[in-house]
Amino acid sequence: MATDTYEITANAKINLFLRVNGTLPNGYHRLYTVMQEIDCADQLTIRIDPSRSGFKINCFGRNDIDPRKNLCRKASDRFYSNLKKIKGDDFKPPYTEIDLIKNIPSESGLGGGSSDAAAVLVVLQEHFGQPFSEEELLHIAVNVGADVPFFLYGGTCLCERVGEVIQPIESMAGLGVLIGKPKAGVSTPECFALMDLEEQKPFDEKAYSDYVGSLNVHFRNNSDRLEKLLARTDLLVNDLETPAIRLVPEIEALKTAFTNAGAEYCCMSGSGSAVFALFENRGDAAAALQQVQDVQALADCSLYLSETV
Ligand code: C5P
Repeated sequence: MATDTYEITANAKINLFLRVNGTLPNGYHRLYTVMQEIDCADQLTIRIDPSRSGFKINCFGRNDIDPRKNLCRKASDRFYSNLKKIKGDDFKPPYTEIDLIKNIPSESGLGGGSSDAAAVLVVLQEHFGQPFSEEELLHIAVNVGADVPFFLYGGTCLCERVGEVIQPIESMAGLGVLIGKPKAGVSTPECFALMDLEEQKPFDEKAYSDYVGSLNVHFRNNSDRLEKLLARTDLLVNDLETPAIRLVPEIEALKTAFTNAGAEYCCMSGSGSAVFALFENRGDAAAALQQVQDVQALADCSLYLSETV
């Protein structure tokens, strides 16, 4: 039998805001966040050969990735073990080999590993003729990682609980994005643990659902998108930012530099350490990139130009 080859792009995400609303019985935190896909991307080539068994992942572009801990492996393992439940014990997972070209920085809060994992699930779901319902695939996804379900949808989504309750909302596509990533990353569990030691800001569920409702309308253009997004700057908060800044102080320096360069809005993404700044278009983000390139306080940070999609 021939090998089937699939090419797939795995985009990153930013969290336009991220609120933590208590903890769930399993110890995970209950999130309320709007995730936005951006065009900073990893590239995957997935080869499936049913004539033999095994798994291999080849990472290109960086040497700090441990192939054994990569979420693509976890995604394929979870997919095949669930498929076995449908097909019976005779089902033998085919040899699966993944070439992964990494561009999205790790430990950045940009969801690179989760997006790669979602891409694997999407390809396997297609290869095997859609064996799982949307709900079943979401369940497999959230067991691979909290941010994986979002990447099955992409675009602009309100994500709740661990991240598996997802509502796509009106697209925020076309905004310019400037990203800064300090050399040091932030460990997600460490960041949540540090946050737990601090007093939490109250979470006004009604204010947030009204706000998200006001973003789920037709936008005339990018200026209208930004105006509606920035109408409630008091709600544009990432609860993980303060603990992350304690772990990686450059996050603060990035926010200051991006604000001075004319960002409409800037915030840390996820549990960091990447900071994003929004602009009306890619050109404005490129102009800001020029301005911050020589800022001494950012000497150890990597800068990326991107766009919401
Ligand atoms: O699911 P994921 O591997 O992305 O999460 C990493 C860690 O972050 C979890 O083990 C948990 O400690 C923390 N986490 C959390 N609440 C969430 C998501 C992640 O406490 N909603």
